Amino acid sequence: MAPFIVFEGCDGSGKSTQAKALFRRLQREGCPSLLTHEPGGTPLGESIRRRLKAGWDVSPLSELFLFSAARAQLVQSVVVPAIRNGITVVCDRYTASTVAYQGYGRGLDLAMIGQVNRAATDGLSPDLIVLLDLPSELTVDRKGKNVRDVFDGAPLEFHGKVREAYLYQASQDPGRWLVLDATKPRRELTLEVWNKVQPLL
Ligand code: TMP
Repeated sequence: MAPFIVFEGCDGSGKSTQAKALFRRLQREGCPSLLTHEPGGTPLGESIRRRLKAGWDVSPLSELFLFSAARAQLVQSVVVPAIRNGITVVCDRYTASTVAYQGYGRGLDLAMIGQVNRAATDGLSPDLIVLLDLPSELTVDRKGKNVRDVFDGAPLEFHGKVREAYLYQASQDPGRWLVLDATKPRRELTLEVWNKVQPLL
């Protein structure tokens, strides 16, 4: 099985930029690889993404199941077939986002989220989770002003809880997580990621 590598972080942390940089590096090195993101990466996932970003009025529980439906589809139809065929998968967000946003952020029960996450992924865990850690005050500042998002307008406290959730999850499984200071220069971060990924290939 090829490695499954996930990028996590608050909105505006630069995780998507780093995921793309890793994907380009893997391609340059001749390593078969695929870049995808959540929610999305399949027709179902993209349609859920569009609707959620357009500001669908959904309850926290419905939101959990929408993200999970997108994930189940992505894992079954894209991620598992790829890694089984020796293709390294780089994914922008995964189950830790659900713990952070729906669990810590929206306040849903964490044990229930754990069960839903396991069901949606059939227990597939990433080999590496890269966390781009950013102080909450910068989360809102760094996001493009014109980008519409699910949590636009959420108070600073919400972003603080999301950050806390990420740091807690990383502390519980340090072997699997790489925590990076997202305020560092972009190239420096790209190199730190590459140094960690290389031994997995
Ligand atoms: P992004 O692609 O810009 O990261 O946007 C995805 C948004 O969806 C982001 O605000 C985080 C949110 N999200 C959740 O709330 N729960 C999830 O499980 C996932 C994957 C994303």
